[in-house]
Parts: sequence; structure tokens; C-alpha cells
Amino acid sequence: MINVLFVCLGNICRSPVAEGVFRDLVEKRGLQNAIRCDSAGTSSYHIGTLPDRRISQIARQRGLELTHCARKLSGDDFYQFDYILAMDESNFEDIRNVSYRSSGFYFPEGQLYLYREFDQLAGEVLTVPDPYYEDIAAFEDVYEIVERCGQNFLDFLVEKHQL
Ligand code: 4NP
Repeated sequence: MINVLFVCLGNICRSPVAEGVFRDLVEKRGLQNAIRCDSAGTSSYHIGTLPDRRISQIARQRGLELTHCARKLSGDDFYQFDYILAMDESNFEDIRNVSYRSSGFYFPEGQLYLYREFDQLAGEVLTVPDPYYEDIAAFEDVYEIVERCGQNFLDFLVEKHQL
């Protein structure tokens, strides 16, 4: 079993939709017995709450129900997960620091990525932009980004692990 964790700041916008979209792609390829996924936030701001209604609305319009309950990234995650995908550079640095502080090691290179490294349409900036203070178009952008990244990251896993 390959375990994949998506991480953003609040765990109510970007990472839960990345998780939901990725799980759907995994199921469509019949790989649900080989790949599992979850999401978490680096902050405690929204622990226990459902995804932001704006991203839930965008997902629902595309046939996907987001049911994740926000939680904070924990030291245990570095033992439970094989891959961690950060939505932006700040999440990436936080993940590295938390892994070192809580587990005594930096989560290995090759298992920690900026998710947009898997976006063939990304420019120089490898960030899934934080939509929280933006309008609905920003949430649509996030959805399209995590859909492209999901396809490519899944291809990457299939090839690397011969699934
Ligand atoms: P997320 O978006 O990291 O994609 O879940 C945010 C959610 C909440 C806040 C910031 C970003 N906040 O400041 O409360």
C-alpha cells in the first residue's frame, strides 16, 4: 500500500480538494487497493471542520463530494505516509521543520514534493495559490490545477511502483 498525504495551511481548501480529486482518479484506474490518500494542514485554525463551502461547491458541480474533516499535520504522519505533497513553498518548509522537530529527521527528498512539480502547465512558480481570500474564480483555478497534478502524480506512482 502506498500512502499519500496532501498538505496545505488550513486543510479546508487546497489539500482536501487535492485529496478528493486524487482519490477519484485512483478509483477510476482501479488502484484503490494500492494507493490510499489523506490530507492535513500545517495550522490548527480549522481543526474538525468540513472543507470551505466554496471549494465544496466547485467540487460538487463536477460530481465530487468533499467529506474530509480538517486536521493538523502530526509527527506520526512522517511514519504513516510514503509521499507528502505540499501545496506551496511555505507548506513545504513547515513540513520539513515539523518532521525534523517531531521525528528527528527531515522527511526524505524524493518523498516530499511541491504538488505543482506535477503540473505540466506550471510556470516558474510551483505554487497552488491560496484561494481563501480570493473570489470563486480562484477556487476554480485550484480545482483545475489539482486535477492536472493528480493525473501526472498518479502516472508517476504507477511507473515508479509498477502498479
Ligand atoms: P487552505 O486555505 O490552506 O488551502 O486550506 C486557507 C484556509 C484558511 C486560511 C488560510 C488559507 N486561514 O487563514 O484561515
